[in-house]
Amino acid sequence: MIKELIKSNRTVRKFKETKLNDSELFDIVEAARYSMSARNIQELKFKIINDERVETLFSLCRFAGYLSDFNPTLKEGPKSFLIVCVDTSITEVNSLAYVNAGIAMANITLVAKEKGFSSVILGAFDKGQVVNQFNIDEKYVPIYLIGFGEADEEIHIVDYQSDIKYYRDKANNHYVPKRCLEDLLL
Ligand SMILES: Cc1cc2nc3c(=O)[nH]c(=O)nc-3n(C[C@H](O)[C@H](O)[C@H](O)COP(=O)(O)O)c2cc1C
Repeated sequence: MIKELIKSNRTVRKFKETKLNDSELFDIVEAARYSMSARNIQELKFKIINDERVETLFSLCRFAGYLSDFNPTLKEGPKSFLIVCVDTSITEVNSLAYVNAGIAMANITLVAKEKGFSSVILGAFDKGQVVNQFNIDEKYVPIYLIGFGEADEEIHIVDYQSDIKYYRDKANNHYVPKRCLEDLLL
């Protein structure tokens, strides 16, 4: 069931050592090809990082802004990354590009999840350094990263009470407050 897959598709920030192979990543990225795209512009381009450069990219990421005492080690970090870029030879970076990126990234992470891989979408990363260190042509503007790997932590959805901030208990279980359906309905 697609809804169960969505429910299980939680952001993970601690991964096992299992790697993804390139063909799995190609298959995952292909979800972007079939994604809805405002005006059917299809302005997104994806750079796959699945080699020793994962270490460099990891060092440019900021994980879990709400958790001051949590940071994955390199060993625990994602095993592969996608750099999600807007191709400015197609369109400028505008709000539709961000909407299209959101839809594509949702589909990408769901396909990854179906294959047994979890993911983390990252908006907080050093975009300038990504451009420099990965020799990205200036026409491509990185807007997000997606990290992938096999989950090595448990994530629990809890009903929102008074705070939307995710938190961890002493055993390092991660809890994500979600507003209830009745709170979403007007
Ligand atoms: C557009 C977007 C940007 C995000 N950026 C970051 C980020 O920079 N660092 C991070 O650790 N998590 C990031 N996340 C993950 C969110 O923190 C996460 O989705 C949220 O805590 C809810 O948890 P859930 O994905 O398990 O529902 C991002 C998620 C989205 C959709």
